[in-house]
Amino acid sequence: MSQKTYKIAVLPGDGTGPEVVAEGLKVLHATADKFGFKLDTETFDFGGDRYLATGEVLPENASEEMKKFDAVYLGAIGHPDVKPGILEKGILLKLRFDLDQYINLRPVKLYPGVETPLKDKGPEEIDYVVVRENTGGLYTGIGGFTMKGTQHEVAVQSMVYNRHQVERCIRYAFDYTQKRNKRNTLALCGKTNVLTYAYDLWERVFHEVGKKDYPNIRRDYYHVDATCMWMVKNPEWFDVIVTGNMFGDIITDLGAITQGGMGIAAGGNINPDPGGVSMFEPIGGSAPKYTGMNVINPLAAISSGQMMLEHLGQYDAAEAIEKAIMSVTPKLKSMGAGKMGYSTTEVGDMVAKAV
Ligand code: IPM
Ligand code: MN
Repeated sequence: MSQKTYKIAVLPGDGTGPEVVAEGLKVLHATADKFGFKLDTETFDFGGDRYLATGEVLPENASEEMKKFDAVYLGAIGHPDVKPGILEKGILLKLRFDLDQYINLRPVKLYPGVETPLKDKGPEEIDYVVVRENTGGLYTGIGGFTMKGTQHEVAVQSMVYNRHQVERCIRYAFDYTQKRNKRNTLALCGKTNVLTYAYDLWERVFHEVGKKDYPNIRRDYYHVDATCMWMVKNPEWFDVIVTGNMFGDIITDLGAITQGGMGIAAGGNINPDPGGVSMFEPIGGSAPKYTGMNVINPLAAISSGQMMLEHLGQYDAAEAIEKAIMSVTPKLKSMGAGKMGYSTTEVGDMVAKAV
């Protein structure tokens, strides 16, 4: 019998990216062996070192090349010798945009034995998912300067949304909430009291779509500032949160710290459309100061591998990885780099073995 094979583009990237990706692949291959499928990987050297050596941020055909794969598995982008913005916009955001990965899915889930800074909260209370719009809003890049460098300088950067972008994101969030079937509650995180155009559109679409097509899903609304407060005080209120790109970026870092930090927080850049190519990455950065020390936590990368398998329809395999992670987290002293009580490769080995 021929085995199902998935073609995966691997982008280890900068800093500690390659180390965590190596552990992620170790776990993914072990899981594939066990569940009877194959991952056929091809590695690309996109990142800061390549840019510094060649002057090219991303080869011109890179996005097209990625479309030949079933999924993309990314480590981290960001290099201390490259000015902030060049690699982020030129690689990460470019791929998200070109591949129309309009959803950034970021689970906030506290695993057993992981320390949270939230007082009196545990895995029961911290378990929700943020659906961040991933191709629009302030990230669209519309804006500019005039009179740059003078006292009268003007800088504009616009929060741009069209109805199509908002609606497809909101529909995805309702569908996701329905499939998750946990508390059947979708919360819109906005700022309708100040951003009276952009989030007015979001709010109208949210209620219209919800009322018409998802009558069984409860709809909550929170301003973004209040969302931050409740994520700390009452995280158990949340099931799924949907929000725009900028707010989603900000609140998912807050969410990540409540689940143990960047060492464990995973995400998926998803194009849910037929034939769409999605990209999975740990949400933390390239952590350059820990590069090559074998101390960085690979669990976020391993979790994003789990999300990738789930996206590819390998549900049992994905669940096996999550169970394995949950069997390993209680053994680690901390989720932080250098404080786990184990090395990067040891943690990868432990999860692979547990699978
Ligand atoms: C993230 C990151 C990126 C973003 C940066 C690196 C461009 O912070 O994935 O959350 O803002 O989306
Ligand atoms: Mn971010």
